[in-house]
Amino acid sequence: MHRINSTTKIFALAAIVAFASACNQDSTFRGWVYMPDMYDGPALETYQPYGKFSDSTSARKPVNGTVPRGFLAYQEFSPEASGYDSAKAMLTMPSSVPTDDYAMEQAKDIYNIFCTHCHGEKGAGQGILVTSGKFLGVPSYADRDINLGSIFHVVTYGKGVMGAHASQLTPEERWKVAQYVLKLKTELGGAETNEEEPAEAESAPEDETNMES
Ligand code: HEC
Repeated sequence: MHRINSTTKIFALAAIVAFASACNQDSTFRGWVYMPDMYDGPALETYQPYGKFSDSTSARKPVNGTVPRGFLAYQEFSPEASGYDSAKAMLTMPSSVPTDDYAMEQAKDIYNIFCTHCHGEKGAGQGILVTSGKFLGVPSYADRDINLGSIFHVVTYGKGVMGAHASQLTPEERWKVAQYVLKLKTELGGAETNEEEPAEAESAPEDETNMES
């Protein structure tokens, strides 16, 4: 009993000493660090200040004019009305943009995410924002004289009250959705603005026919 008591006392005393000395008056002192790697990883962060290179960062910046992989530059046509006209007259889709069924599936998804709320699932201009009266002036694709180039331009820069989508969609995604818009336009035919009208569709998946419509 005695022995246990004194051992306990020694431990208790040691604990009290450790506890009392662990606190430090200086509140900015964070204590001793025994394994610094746990606090500061040995790996460098990108562009972190670092003495190795002449500009003192841990990595080289890309060479001027570097473009991301898959990036398609588009600077030919200005956002103004004249640029719209030129795009409609001259802008053609790069041959690298896929036009197959899978690409059209993706295009449909893109359209349903970014465009349906205004343009409606069928492109007749009857999206939820329009039917609920929150947003007006959305045309049916059937009533617009549009082609791949003009659609790409409009999705890139916007038109009237429609906003630009260049920051949401990559150039390739814009070309894909442009193809899909033309498909919807073909399906709408010359029909009046009517979401109920399915028209005979699915017969025009070849994009060649779509392109010049
Ligand atoms: C906030 C609502 C809204 C959204 C979202 C929207 N649009 Fe539009 N869109 C409009 C309006 C309004 C117009 C009519 C603009 C004008 O002619 O003044 C228009 C016009 C168009 C036209 C016809 C332009 C022309 O040349 O006459 C196309 C093509 C088009 N949009 C495609 C798209 C696509 C593709 C998307 C999705 C990526 C999209 N829009 C998203 C509102 C929207």
